[in-house]
Amino acid sequence: MKKIKINVPEKEYNVYLGNNTFPSLPNLLSKEKIKGKFLLVIDSNVKKYYSKLINDTFANYFYNIVIVNSSEKNKSFETLQKIHSVLIKNKFGRDSVLVAIGGGIIGDIAGFAASTYMRGIKYIQIPTTLLASVDSSVGGKTGLNFQDTKNVIGSFYQPQMVLIDTDFFNTLPNEERLCGLGEIIKYCFLIDQKFYNYVQKNYDEVLSNNPKVLEKVITESVKFKGGVVEADERESGIRKVLNLGHTFAHAFEVQQNHKIKHGQAVIVGITCALYLSHYLNFVNEKDLDNYLSFLLFFSPQIKLSNVNKKKIFTIMQLDKKNRDNKIKFVLLQNVGEILTDVPASKELVYKAIAKTVSHF
Ligand code: NAD
Ligand code: GLY
Repeated sequence: MKKIKINVPEKEYNVYLGNNTFPSLPNLLSKEKIKGKFLLVIDSNVKKYYSKLINDTFANYFYNIVIVNSSEKNKSFETLQKIHSVLIKNKFGRDSVLVAIGGGIIGDIAGFAASTYMRGIKYIQIPTTLLASVDSSVGGKTGLNFQDTKNVIGSFYQPQMVLIDTDFFNTLPNEERLCGLGEIIKYCFLIDQKFYNYVQKNYDEVLSNNPKVLEKVITESVKFKGGVVEADERESGIRKVLNLGHTFAHAFEVQQNHKIKHGQAVIVGITCALYLSHYLNFVNEKDLDNYLSFLLFFSPQIKLSNVNKKKIFTIMQLDKKNRDNKIKFVLLQNVGEILTDVPASKELVYKAIAKTVSHF
C-alpha cells in the first residue's frame, strides 16, 4: 500500500492508496490512533455492492450508518440535517469520527457535516469513485449546493486520513469512470507534458481499471494537489489553478439541471477555457487543435441540450473566485503554465461557449 503525506499547516494527514486496501482499515485506524464512535455516511450504491465488506471491516467498532442517495439535489441542507440528526439521536460526542464512504457528493457533504457538528469532529475520506480518489477526497473543501449554486455553502476542513481502494471502481459505471478521467485530464494540463503524454497514451487503461496505471495517475494527481493545498489551503492564490475549467463546468451543471455530471461538465468546461485562452492569445491555433483532439475524443459520450449562454454567464457571475463583480477565469498558457484571475469580455466568453457547444 502506498502512503502520501499531506502537510497542510497545523493539519498533517496521510493518503493511503492501493487495491484491496479497505480491509486493512482497522490496522490503519490503530496506526493513526483514530478511535471513538463512528458514523458511516455511505452512498446508496456503495451500500448495495459492499454492505458485507463494510460491516465485516467495522465488526469490532461501535458504529451507526446513514445512507445517502448521491445526487446534486441531495447535496443539500436536508441531507446535512439527516446526518446531524443521527449524530444527536445517538449521542455522538466531540470524540466521535465520521467516515465518508462514497463519491465526491458523499465526501463533500459528510465533510461539511463533520466540520459543523459540535464545531468540528474528525472525519475520514474513503472515496469509492475515480473522481473522488484523484481529486475531491484530498484538500479539505467541503460543502453543499444551495439555491441553484454549487458548493456555495461550505468550509475548508481537512480529513484525518484518506483511504483509496481502487477495487471499489470495479462496480463503477463507465460514465462515472469517464467523470474521473475528466478531472485527470485537468491534472494533465496542470502538471506537465510528461504526465499529459502518459494519460493520453493510457486513458483506455484508466477506463478499464488497470491497477498499475490507476495507481500512477492517482498518485501523481494527489501529490500535485497536496502540494498546491499545502501552499494555499484557503485558495487566496495558487490553489485557484485547481479550478481550471470549473467556472464554466459548474455553470453548465446548473444550467443543464444536473443532467450532465460534474466530471463530464469538467471536460466541457476545460474545452471552453481552452477556446477562451486561444481568443485571448494565450494559446496558439496549433496547440489549441492539439489539446482539443485529446479532449474531444470523449465528446460523443457527453450530451448537452438547450444550452443558454446568457443563463450560463449569469450563473458564472456567482462564482466564488469573482472579485469586484467580475468573473475571473482560470486559463491556460501552456501545459503546466496556468493563468488565474483573468478577466474576459462577455463577447469572447459567449464565443467560447458557442464554439464548445458545437462539439457536444
Ligand atoms: P458521485 O458522488 O455522485 O458518485 C457518482 C455515482 O457513482 C453515484 O451514482 C454513486 O451512487 C455511484 N457510486 C459511487 N461509488 C460507487 C462504486 N464504487 N460502485 C458503483 N457506483 C458507485 O460523483 P463524483 O463524481 O464522485 O463526485 C462529484 C462531486 O464531487 C460533485 O458534487 C463535485 O462538485 C464534487 N467535487 C468536490 C471537490 C472537492 O475538492 N471537494 C473536487 C471535485 C469534485
Ligand atoms: N477541486 C478544486 C480544489 O480542491 O481546490
